[in-house]
Amino acid sequence: MNVLLVGSGGREHALAWKIAQSPKVDAFYCAPGNAGIAEFAECVPIAAMEFDRLVEFAKEKEIGLAVVGMDDPLVGGLIDRFEEAGIRAFGPRKNAAILEGSKAFSKDLMKKYGIPTAKYENFTDPAAALAYLETVDFPIVLKADGLALGKGVLICEDMEAAKAGVKQIMEDKAFGTAGNKMVIEEFMTGREVSVLSFVDGETIKTMSSSQDYKRAKDGNEGLNTGGMGNFSPTPFYTPEIDAFCQEKIFRPTVAAMKAEGRPFKGVIFFGLMLTENGPKVLEYNARFGDPEAQVILPRLKNDIIDVFEACIDGKLDELDLEFSDEAAVIVILASDGYPVAYEKGKVITGLDTVKAHEAEGYYCFHAGTKFGPEGEYLTNGGRVLGACATGKTLGEARKKAYEAAGWVSFENKYMRSDIAKEVENM
Ligand code: AMP
Ligand code: GLY
Repeated sequence: MNVLLVGSGGREHALAWKIAQSPKVDAFYCAPGNAGIAEFAECVPIAAMEFDRLVEFAKEKEIGLAVVGMDDPLVGGLIDRFEEAGIRAFGPRKNAAILEGSKAFSKDLMKKYGIPTAKYENFTDPAAALAYLETVDFPIVLKADGLALGKGVLICEDMEAAKAGVKQIMEDKAFGTAGNKMVIEEFMTGREVSVLSFVDGETIKTMSSSQDYKRAKDGNEGLNTGGMGNFSPTPFYTPEIDAFCQEKIFRPTVAAMKAEGRPFKGVIFFGLMLTENGPKVLEYNARFGDPEAQVILPRLKNDIIDVFEACIDGKLDELDLEFSDEAAVIVILASDGYPVAYEKGKVITGLDTVKAHEAEGYYCFHAGTKFGPEGEYLTNGGRVLGACATGKTLGEARKKAYEAAGWVSFENKYMRSDIAKEVENM
């Protein structure tokens, strides 16, 4: 089977690495890909939002399976476009990807079907939002409705900050049209956990749990980012919590989407807050997380093509999803200054050392890299690489991930030093 993967980040590198292991794959292409993905797939210079060109390319290369990793093309309807052209594709259709694409939609869905989440109201009018703020307790959370690269969430400590936030989102359009609508929701406290799952429209099978580090600096300080590190599994997600979530959150979400005439096929990423009143949904994503994919896929034992096909064909109930007992940790190597301003084009060295240790469970997934004129690796983004490792324990995986992080060099390399520190003895 010829396979086309759409995307260019660390998540897609992990997907490419895993897809390439399947004996079912003949030709393998990635659009647009990156310098790391080029080891496994032929990278073609078509951007993820160039739907016409992607469909044309898929027809020309007789693609038997298209896999879309990123949120923007999923929310924009790329799966529908592939299907209309007769190409099998893994991911939610546009009417289901709205689960991530509109926070107002997802909040209303949870309310209608009794899925636990923070109390909230939706607004399209800034004056109404300001009036509502007079009635709430602080801190309060403001969320732009649409996609905003994970940055459209503001936690406001007081009325002054909240008023400024409403202006920023709805009037100044700091997150573009994502701010035409806004959710104002109750601030929750607790530990955050991510649970990714495969869904075939009806059946849901969850993957191993993980924990993200969203803030740029040690001690969870600094700005929100796409993610600076991650570990899997998280010991804080106990079997009791899992049983609750399966019954009250995961299965009800899939059933709700089906009942709404929006059957979800693909990956649902549940962002959960373990509050003192039980687990509640922080957000849904309609795709693998980045860098969650990089700590989960190295532990997935199944042929991923089998899993994708089971989701597409509605046969997930016949498949046993298997994960290794090992733990995994990833430390993101970023360009200093991310997520605001940073330099690109720096030469990267040491990747061959990580590669030489792959059999021992060391990986380096590329997020923002490209080839220079001499075929050398250059930095090409804020998040550049993810130094990742598996180990018998979280502590061992952490030690190895930082070891790999030390092998790789580039001029403005920046990383957090406390990823998975809280679980280093687990
Ligand atoms: P989201 O994109 O909705 O996951 O929000 C990004 C981050 O903001 C989350 O990972 C949380 O750390 C934080 N956050 C979002 N909603 C809430 C909430 N209701 N209470 C507390 N923190 C929140
Ligand atoms: N790491 C969080 C996300 O992918 O949204």
